Amino acid sequence: MLPSSVSSFHTTNPTSTPLSPLSTFSFLSASSSSSSSSLSFQQSSLQRRRLVSFGPISKTLFGINSKSKGILRVSCSTSEPLKVMISGAPASGKGTQCELIVKKFGLVHISTGDLLRAEVSAETEIGNKAKEFMNAGRLVPDEIVTAMVTARLSLQDAKEKGWLLDGYPRSSAQAESLEKLNVRPDIYVVLDVPDEILINRCVGRRLDPETGKIYHVKNFPPETEEIKARLVTRPDDTEGKVKARLDIYKKNADAILSTYSNIMVKIDGNQSKEVVFKEIDSLLSQVQRDEVKLLKSENSVPESGSHSSQAPVSRDKWRGIPTRLNNIPHSREIRNYFYDDVLQATQRSVNDGRTRLRVDINIPELNPEMDVYRIGTLMELIRIIALSFADDGKRVKVCVQGSMGEGALSGMPLQLAGTRKILEFMDWGDYGAKGTFIKIGSIGEQEVSEEDDVFILVAPQNAVGNCIIDDLKAMTVAAGSRPVILINPRLKDLPGSSGVMQTMGRDKRLEYAASFESCYFFRLLYFAGTQYPIMGALRMSYPYRYELYKRVDQPSGTEKYVILSTFSEKPSIDDVNDAFMGKPRNGAKKASGFWGFLSSVFLSGEDDVTSNISELARVTVKSQIGLMSLY
Ligand code: AP5
Repeated sequence: MLPSSVSSFHTTNPTSTPLSPLSTFSFLSASSSSSSSSLSFQQSSLQRRRLVSFGPISKTLFGINSKSKGILRVSCSTSEPLKVMISGAPASGKGTQCELIVKKFGLVHISTGDLLRAEVSAETEIGNKAKEFMNAGRLVPDEIVTAMVTARLSLQDAKEKGWLLDGYPRSSAQAESLEKLNVRPDIYVVLDVPDEILINRCVGRRLDPETGKIYHVKNFPPETEEIKARLVTRPDDTEGKVKARLDIYKKNADAILSTYSNIMVKIDGNQSKEVVFKEIDSLLSQVQRDEVKLLKSENSVPESGSHSSQAPVSRDKWRGIPTRLNNIPHSREIRNYFYDDVLQATQRSVNDGRTRLRVDINIPELNPEMDVYRIGTLMELIRIIALSFADDGKRVKVCVQGSMGEGALSGMPLQLAGTRKILEFMDWGDYGAKGTFIKIGSIGEQEVSEEDDVFILVAPQNAVGNCIIDDLKAMTVAAGSRPVILINPRLKDLPGSSGVMQTMGRDKRLEYAASFESCYFFRLLYFAGTQYPIMGALRMSYPYRYELYKRVDQPSGTEKYVILSTFSEKPSIDDVNDAFMGKPRNGAKKASGFWGFLSSVFLSGEDDVTSNISELARVTVKSQIGLMSLY
């Protein structure tokens, strides 16, 4: 779907659209346009290059008629290619990242700063008007910029290749204009950089008028003396003007955020440009995959007894993760979302050659600590994963641990009692998969046969007085390089029947448990140890980043999950606290209050009721009030 990458910024900004020196555009009138009609252009001329104002440029003229009764229509359906908005303070690195994004994803880069500089350089009517605002570090009037952007968006290349909007919208009026035209991005990326760094970046910025490449005297010096000699400084890059631009950015940022909060992702822009790009790359790739998944599920013909009979993934409805997770029982749509989410992550991991995997999914119906726990949901999840591998021709052994001690149920975790029988009696599809491609077994070395390709272990866990890890270890050794997938394992040592913790070999056991790589993680975050209300969620689906969401009540009575931050590793307590409190990353402070409690619960990766309770006791009424006021 995507064009192959291209090597220079010139070529990343497609010139396929016919350009001519003098151009005008006309709006289709309402009567002559259908609902999907787009702007009609007689001609358009924009040199889409960073810093076009310093290079040779054609004259441009925008025939803007603000009194026109015509209606702008830009058609943007969900099946179109990637649509991205990037925002951030002056010098947060938008342009730098856009170069990299365009190179990788082939999107059409629309930078209002570049468009305006082109007009200024060409000394057009618009350029002359815009110049005084730009030089003063102020925003150019909305109607000028909006007309430029909507015109550019409606061109064929943007529709076909997708677009990357940089520096627009910058006011609530601009955001509203796009909403009215039904122009919405798939994702709204915000680069977050501290003020003092921004000023240094602006003052040190240099631009190459020939290539449009962005340099910095210290951070990214030019490659050769020849380039160095021709570099120029932007007129609005003085310290005073940067401060004015920063003030304006801050005044407008919140208003725009409210329009895009459900698709907003904040990225720490104070990292090397490669690291920042890695994060953006991972997010955009995820959006693309979700889009493909959505289209596939919408187009798929339901098949009975297979996971493909699930309802379409409602990404548009949920914009990320499902809502109403405290409605028990979960709807089929919600269960299907999670089954599919886990399945995709597991398959990607196995396809990438990972062999020691764990899935931790903690929605209420899969949380044995809650009285709404449903063994049926766990079994359904296992069946979907197992059948999917079997569909690929792999022989899957689904293993559930048996009793590990004397007597009927002694040593059997209560959560698993009867599970084996349920698995035996379950419907494994119409094609006789059970007994051939699917086998039911136990946990232990003796269960590993030569023909098995994949092992799925159902919630392996320690029982009072017994530790499953030794059996698990022997089994994985026997499995060798074949994938072993633990679904909701609970491998922490528990107190023995005597009430004494098993300490012998504990370190080694925990080290072994930690050797399983997380390929899927989903955990709801609750307020101060209660199970209501849900405050947010942490999700990770291999190979993507951990995503931290906050649940937000909407005036309409509905709710939504807003992404607060992403992390390459499972976030620390401080990371989570800071994200919820809106603080910059890597603060040196210790976790405290509610968020400290929340994060300490889930960061362990396994429920630990005892420590939760003692942590709960530390939460003071004062901190509760303080944090409640955040909402
Ligand atoms: P515009 O050109 O959009 O300026 P801006 O938003 O202020 O952003 P900048 O271009 O200054 O910075 P950037 O985030 O692209 O950073 P860059 O990658 O270059 O707009 C200019 C003017 O046009 C506005 O002031 C306004 O008047 C007008 N305008 C534009 N859009 C408008 C709208 N919608 N409505 C009304 N008016 C509008 O990087 C900066 C420097 O940092 C470089 O030197 C770079 O090398 C360096 N750098 C980048 N990334 C890193 C990193 N990770 N680490 C270290 N250094 C880095």
